[in-house]
Amino acid sequence: MVNFSKPTAFFFALLTGCANPSRTTDSLYQQLGATAGLEQLVDGVLVEIERDQQIVHHFKDTDIVRFRRLLIEQLCQLSGGPCQYTGATMQESHTGFAITPADFDNLVNHFIKVMSAQQIPVTTQNALLAKLAPMYSDVINR
Ligand code: HEM
Repeated sequence: MVNFSKPTAFFFALLTGCANPSRTTDSLYQQLGATAGLEQLVDGVLVEIERDQQIVHHFKDTDIVRFRRLLIEQLCQLSGGPCQYTGATMQESHTGFAITPADFDNLVNHFIKVMSAQQIPVTTQNALLAKLAPMYSDVINR
């Protein structure tokens, strides 16, 4: 008779996990921890923005609750998750802020710091950053 002691159940769970790798790793969205992971990521980035004297002034009139919701939505859609981004275009939403290349670098570094703290593998981090990089020209010097 099979003894479903705790260790056996644990190894069974591991085996079934390995048998279906596509279920958990098939999209960047899943690799980032799905919605819960993205919420954690954006919350961490918001904390870093708040501490960053070089860029925080850009957000002085921003509705942060709305910004948080839209950033999560956008990252979810970009990474292949089940969301539809409902905010403004990157060009529209960043016009008038005169965001510099150095500001952009700071934000990217905040993403890297928070993803590293979340134990997100570097390859996954780079995959997300590669989705953000094309937005550079829509965001800076506008
Ligand atoms: C690829 C990088 C970036 C992404 C994906 C991104 C994403 C977003 C999103 C989704 C919004 C909300 C749009 C809306 O209100 O409809 C937003 C707004 C905003 N972003 Fe970015 N952003 C990026 C880079 C930056 C940088 C580098 C800065 C400055 C350091 C910045 C400052 C702002 C500010 C101040 C707002 C709020 C505008 C307002 O209050 O109306 N963003 N961004």
